[in-house]
Amino acid sequence: MSIGMAPLTERPAWKALEAHYQQVRGLHLRKLFADDPGRGERMIAEAVDLYLDYSKNRITDETLKLLVQLAEASGLRARIDAMFRGEQINLTERRAVLHVALRAPKGAVIVVDGENVVPQVHAVLDKMANFSDRVRSGAWLGHTGKRIRNVINIGIGGSDLGPVMAYEALKHYSERAMTFRFVSNVDGTDFAEAVQDLDPSETLCIISSKTFTTLETMTNAHTARSWSLAGLGGDEQSVAKHFVAVSTNAEGVAKFGIDTANMFEFWDWVGGRYSMDSAIGLSTMLAIGPDNFRAMLDGFHQMDEHFRTTPFAANLPVLMGLLGVWYNNFFGAQTVAVLPYEQYLKRFPAYLQQLTMESNGKHVTLDGSKVAYQTGPIYWGEPGTNGQHSFYQLIHQGTGLIACDFIAFVQPLNPLGRHHDILLANVFAQAEALAFGKTPEQVQAEGTPDWLVPHRVFQGNRPSNTILAARLTPETLGKLVALYEHSVFTQGTIWNINSFDQWGVELGKALAQRIIPELESQEEPRLGHDSSTNTLIRRYRQLKKAS
Ligand code: F6P
Repeated sequence: MSIGMAPLTERPAWKALEAHYQQVRGLHLRKLFADDPGRGERMIAEAVDLYLDYSKNRITDETLKLLVQLAEASGLRARIDAMFRGEQINLTERRAVLHVALRAPKGAVIVVDGENVVPQVHAVLDKMANFSDRVRSGAWLGHTGKRIRNVINIGIGGSDLGPVMAYEALKHYSERAMTFRFVSNVDGTDFAEAVQDLDPSETLCIISSKTFTTLETMTNAHTARSWSLAGLGGDEQSVAKHFVAVSTNAEGVAKFGIDTANMFEFWDWVGGRYSMDSAIGLSTMLAIGPDNFRAMLDGFHQMDEHFRTTPFAANLPVLMGLLGVWYNNFFGAQTVAVLPYEQYLKRFPAYLQQLTMESNGKHVTLDGSKVAYQTGPIYWGEPGTNGQHSFYQLIHQGTGLIACDFIAFVQPLNPLGRHHDILLANVFAQAEALAFGKTPEQVQAEGTPDWLVPHRVFQGNRPSNTILAARLTPETLGKLVALYEHSVFTQGTIWNINSFDQWGVELGKALAQRIIPELESQEEPRLGHDSSTNTLIRRYRQLKKAS
């Protein structure tokens, strides 16, 4: 644990990096590659069939050595062990952090409060598999005897982003005779559009909420219940056939009217944004089937084991986490672009946003003192090649440094003529262009008039990682997600913050609860907000009345 250690910026390893940064900050990737032609073959790490090329980063061997020293001096090894042992490393919520238990194989032993949790995990997985098989085969019928053809997952944050991302990512493996929809936003449009072409008698709603109290999810769940009942003649008995719940809160589920026999459980040691491989993945399992879901879990587990056992210098999540710290804290980079060259991963950046930013967007250390350095960067991205025709301009020629993660697969899932070679040519080209750019001399040599030269120069020296895998499979997806989970953990450990709480979402939630009655009340409410908020509320009420 980092508690009790010297503050991060006072550790010798940090100071050594600061001094080193001054020496290497001006080095250009052109020179690094020219001086060391073997760099692209050497600065790679390969594990569990993921190939990481990190040679196009602004680092030397010394940088890596110092970053690894920083990880060691920050107690990363001890903290990894503490997490895997089920210690309460989520200090502010007094909880263990055991998403790794969700993908531990049968027979593993992980003890929480004196109890081995692995058998519980597998019991829920078996229950999910049994249910999924029944729905997929048509053995589970709706209230009127019709087969379930549509599944709606209702949840938000970690109870939505993982399921949507996984459904999109693994659509190739999904049951195409079924329709999957995801409703998260409290904006009624989300629900209305999701159900506008669905028949309630063929629709199953999964209410996914760890707490079963989240305003958005509960509002949508009640709307879904009314919609379903209205379509099924108002018979309350129908709820049992059309609603299931995924939650840690059995009482809340029962109160909503869902039989707890139709509840799939998970545990408070699973954080929302780390829960896509728990029962929160029920929609994923319904879409791709239990065998594919288990293959995904196996992928997660392979990466867990790699992270747990591999020396830091060859450890994929550790390397990626450390490179992130290098840019964030020494170069002052504020964002990371995640650029999958795989259309099926179109929701992967959105998923990573919660994983990374809800985890590491923190302003105090574990002991509550204010951090004296920048913590979590902003993650964003879009699939290639679309992003190239949108925001890449800024990455290539803008004034800020944006570290990029390119993700690509050797085999296409939809081989179509030359498409895949063209796609992969683009990902390699972008990483090359960002690193090496184009000098004024090169631009001039092309016959460019002098006045145009500065506009056409690419400074280069813009860093990137390239992650290459054979094929996007359920197993590969598990590895990729675990890679980022553990990279976030590595960074959180270095920054000495709690990556597993999310107090920053509370204030807005509480204020919204106060404002809701102020918008709904018949009488003019007495408002006690600031003058801006008061005026906005009055304005809304006025216009609402008039419309
Ligand atoms: O956004 C805050 C948050 O608590 C997330 O961490 C969580 O994933 C999401 O809300 C949904 O919570 P629940 O699953 O309890 O509805």
